Amino acid sequence: MKTAAPLVLFQALAVQGLRIVQSNDDGWAESYARSLHAALTEADHDVVLSAPAENKSGTGSSDAAPEPREKPCIYDSCPADSGPTGFNETSPELNWVNSFPVTSMKHGINTAGPALWDGAAPELAVSGPNVGSNLFLALPFSGTVGAACYAVMEEGIPALAFSGASDDHAAWNEDPPESGLVYAELATQLTNKVIASGTPYLPEGIFLNVNFPKFGGDCSKADNFEFVLSRINPGIVSEPDVEWCGSDRLPTELDVINADGCYVSVSIGDASDKTTANDERQGVVLEKLKDILVCLP
Ligand SMILES: *[C@@H]1O[C@H](CO)[C@@H](O)[C@H](O)[C@H]1NC(C)=O
Ligand SMILES: *[C@@H]1O[C@H](CO)[C@@H](O)[C@H](O)[C@H]1NC(C)=O
Repeated sequence: MKTAAPLVLFQALAVQGLRIVQSNDDGWAESYARSLHAALTEADHDVVLSAPAENKSGTGSSDAAPEPREKPCIYDSCPADSGPTGFNETSPELNWVNSFPVTSMKHGINTAGPALWDGAAPELAVSGPNVGSNLFLALPFSGTVGAACYAVMEEGIPALAFSGASDDHAAWNEDPPESGLVYAELATQLTNKVIASGTPYLPEGIFLNVNFPKFGGDCSKADNFEFVLSRINPGIVSEPDVEWCGSDRLPTELDVINADGCYVSVSIGDASDKTTANDERQGVVLEKLKDILVCLP
């Protein structure tokens, strides 16, 4: 049984596969979201995508019962007149909803996910990666962020919202843009880190708002990126942040993604108002992520 030992060791170190629900706001057939779906599935998670039938960027936390569609879905990814919701017949984990990102997340958590998981609920929610950044004042309008905050606030499911500064739109059946493949790999790394930190995966009421910098040049492969703890809004009059990198004020996510290098901003968001969580919950998240975080130079 000599060969068995390394395998057992590997299994002990591997992250446990979870039931994950995914949404976005660019539409269910957008390549960035499909690349993340593939990467998380490859990492042994059981991922159900439930996302808008078309581009619903900028719709924030809007929610409305899905209505029957007359037109085909984005990129002709579903036929005309195909009802209020639908899924890919050969890959039923891929679902579209003729409504908003929040409504799509709700459908994934309560209907599409449980239908494939013997009635069980998702253990974690992810949103995106959005095509384009979601920073600071843009957060209230972002459907990507809205869907993540819905999962946390209304369903009690920990959530991560991902956005990429590069904006390479592509259909699910085109060659996936390399930016999307790298963002998907980074998003999977961070998701696995959160999972490996144990339950509760995030403190109550918290979502992570994650922004990837522009893809290209040195920032063309996942190994060259590093994660930096950040704030959503500048903390001019806020209580001190958690003590980290020799300061009690975290950099803003804008500072991080615009810094010289390939830095991913990871903000600890308060899902109730989409601003920085400025309390002891920062310290809890810091402990969970510490060994993958770096300080800005
Ligand atoms: C999606 O909608 C947003 C907001 O209306 C717009 O800015 C963006 O260009 C659209 N994306 C595509 C691919 O059409
Ligand atoms: C549906 O899934 C099949 C593979 O199972 C794939 O070939 C096809 O492109 C998918 N279509 C959409 C719109 O997701």
